[in-house]
Amino acid sequence: MVQRMLKTVVGVALACAFGGSAIAQDSKVADELAKYREALADGNPADLLEVKGESLWTEKRGPKNASLEQCDMGLGPGKLEGAYASLPKYFKDTNKVMDVESRLVHCMMTLQGFTKEEATRQWFSRPGKESDIEALVTFIGAKSNGMKINVPATHPEEARMAKMGEYIFYRRSGPQDFSCSICHGQDGKRIRLQDLGNLTTQEGAGTAMKTWPSYRVSQGAVWTMQRRLIDCMRQARWPEPNYLADSIIALETYLQKTATGTVMETPGIKR
Ligand code: HEC
Repeated sequence: MVQRMLKTVVGVALACAFGGSAIAQDSKVADELAKYREALADGNPADLLEVKGESLWTEKRGPKNASLEQCDMGLGPGKLEGAYASLPKYFKDTNKVMDVESRLVHCMMTLQGFTKEEATRQWFSRPGKESDIEALVTFIGAKSNGMKINVPATHPEEARMAKMGEYIFYRRSGPQDFSCSICHGQDGKRIRLQDLGNLTTQEGAGTAMKTWPSYRVSQGAVWTMQRRLIDCMRQARWPEPNYLADSIIALETYLQKTATGTVMETPGIKR
């Protein structure tokens, strides 16, 4: 009897392991990925970039030989704690809703005297060519760690951008008739090894948004949210927008609004 029961238990276990059970396989892959992230988290290469970002923030640079220390990221000049978590937001001085990257470029132009071209030429890194923007955004992002994402989008301009972002998220277009929601609108979806996450819920959007900027192991580089979203537009087979385009800031406003209340944990590590 005991033996028969044992046989059954072993049989069930074997069926789970080898019976093509997609669920068992899925959770195994997810476990492995979690272990891999844990192993890397101790020495996230992005930590070095954060240090570099800090020195770029305080260094006098550009035609005006000024640092970025007086840059107002939305909480007052030089106040960085919690700034990333509350962006995008409306800025009176530019009469625009700005995200962390557009605001940073604005400060590089107004405080340091760089042209927009100079400030954005290397907005993302290539092998052998580092990006100041990546370093600065990593530094600014980490200053929000432990704080809640807070983008209620109550100002009329912010509300308008959040609405526009939501519209873009669900709008099907391009040669494949894709939308963001096709890949990111349901629970439990995956492309090959990558969990896609349901970005329409607070939990899903929160899990994603709290970890950016992130070090992407497959790319060997830190990616900012602008880069992440522009690349997703490419994945959707849509025309790629320019860096700092309103469509990207609108999507960020919508996603940060959905993620509001989630505690920041950046820089993250991604595949
Ligand atoms: C063809 C499928 C596809 C489409 C369409 C798509 N994405 Fe993605 N998206 C991905 C993949 C794959 C990843 C990477 C997941 C990973 O690395 O774990 C990703 C990652 C993301 C992330 C980061 C998630 C995280 O957990 O860190 C965000 C945010 C995102 N996409 C937003 C969008 C938006 C907004 C759109 C529409 C403009 C969009 N995506 C369209 C496939 C897609």
